[in-house]
Amino acid sequence: MGDRKVIVFDTTLRDGEQTPGVSFNKEDKYKIAEKLKKLGVDVLEAGFPAASNGDFEAVKNIAENLKEITIAALGRSVKEDIDRAYEALKHAEKSRMHLFIATSDLHIKYKLKMTKDEVLKRAVESIKYAKGKFDEIQFSAEDASRSDYDFLTKVFSEVIDAGASIINVPDTVGYSVPGEFGKMIAYLKKNIPNIDNVILSTHCHNDLGMAVANSLSAIENGADQIEVTVCGIGERAGNAALEEVVMALDTRKDYFNVFHNINKKEIYSTCSLVSEIAGIKLQPNKPIVGVNAFRHQAGVHQHGVMKNRMTYEILNPEDIGIETEHFVLGKLSGRNAFELKVEKLGYKLSHDEIDKAFKKFKELADEKKIVEDEDIVNIIKEQLEKDKK
Ligand code: KIV
Ligand code: ZN
Repeated sequence: MGDRKVIVFDTTLRDGEQTPGVSFNKEDKYKIAEKLKKLGVDVLEAGFPAASNGDFEAVKNIAENLKEITIAALGRSVKEDIDRAYEALKHAEKSRMHLFIATSDLHIKYKLKMTKDEVLKRAVESIKYAKGKFDEIQFSAEDASRSDYDFLTKVFSEVIDAGASIINVPDTVGYSVPGEFGKMIAYLKKNIPNIDNVILSTHCHNDLGMAVANSLSAIENGADQIEVTVCGIGERAGNAALEEVVMALDTRKDYFNVFHNINKKEIYSTCSLVSEIAGIKLQPNKPIVGVNAFRHQAGVHQHGVMKNRMTYEILNPEDIGIETEHFVLGKLSGRNAFELKVEKLGYKLSHDEIDKAFKKFKELADEKKIVEDEDIVNIIKEQLEKDKK
């Protein structure tokens, strides 16, 4: 185990719910929240109470009933959002107010229609207003990765003085690339004068497919917390996927040398629950939890895995709670994989019978993309019948 802890902040119920077409009701949210607690996330962002009455009720329900976990709620840097979040979170065992305001020139000019000084003032005032109402205050500089570094440093430094104990660096539009994002984290760690004892967090979006890589680069450069969603669901191309970041950290423990609280055996069932409730089918080649993530089709690979699974597998499916079929039988499969499958299906055939059945299997595999178990059982039965005659 490494010596530095990575805090896992899950935002499946907030940013994950911003996935187009996805909406969680109060019951859905509670069911997912219970599972996330079992998974071992450190902080659970339950929603955005000021966004709707429904979300307010859903956050309140989680805060009142789910204990031994920090419950966070998002709000803009305005009094109304803070008051609403306070009402939703006041019975949480440990509450975190997550305030945000944009810091990039683009957002300040076109979206907020404010000056930089006004943004700074608003950020600081909102933290001061929230202080004392919650156990912790987190501040996010929206669009941080496209913000001016000097301004960003100044904003973070002043919100820390005002009472924020967690500062979050979002790559809001998934624009950054790993080397650059890592350097940005290192820069902020070095240049924010009062950053000691403050948690430095990252929040990466996946528009260029780099949310996980950017999060890992941030960790390498000293980030303490990662914000993630289960299966990477979220606005547009989504967020950094919890299961991918965690499995990368563990599989390459030799490289990252950090630890986390995630109970990996719960990963697969958590992803299944979220994808079912969200109504999102996972792509077959999705890393870690896609249906093909641990399947091998090519004969050479199947043969290698039979001798030693490490030849072509860097992850152990059982570690994340998957009971899986490793081999997909198709036209590229070899005789060894076929023989193993026959045995798994409970049949014992002679060498000669296997040869004949394998020939039939290859003929069928030329016609069908994937040969299913029942096709193989039919081939075996036909073969055994023929041999009886
Ligand atoms: O992407 C983003 O910038 C966010 C913030 C509100 C943290 O979701
Ligand atoms: Zn986001």
